[in-house]
Amino acid sequence: MELPTYKRSQLALRNGQDMDAIWVAYQGIIYDVGDSRLWKDGKHYEHWAGQDLTEELDQDAPHTAKVFERFESIGRLI
Ligand code: HEM
Repeated sequence: MELPTYKRSQLALRNGQDMDAIWVAYQGIIYDVGDSRLWKDGKHYEHWAGQDLTEELDQDAPHTAKVFERFESIGRLI
């Protein structure tokens, strides 16, 4: 089934501050990380939810994108 699509402005609201939802995008796919204690209030170390973090993960993270495996992909960023 096709994932629903969201614009950057819609993703931006799901930052754990403006709304309770905590979403992040990686390589065009949006993940709901709301049940992660590591993303409390939308913050993960120096990184904020509600945006596409592809570059930040590739450049700064001590881990790979495997961390997304346990999360549901809930949409596509357009
Ligand atoms: C300063 C940079 C970062 C640090 C120090 C950091 C550190 C960590 C650590 C220690 C974990 C838990 C264990 C592990 O799987 O390694 C983790 C999990 C995770 N990280 Fe990062 N991370 C960073 C950047 C990022 C970025 C840019 C993203 C992009 C979205 C990201 C997404 C995630 C996700 C989704 C998890 C899984 C959370 C969970 O399973 O509850 N991280 N990170």
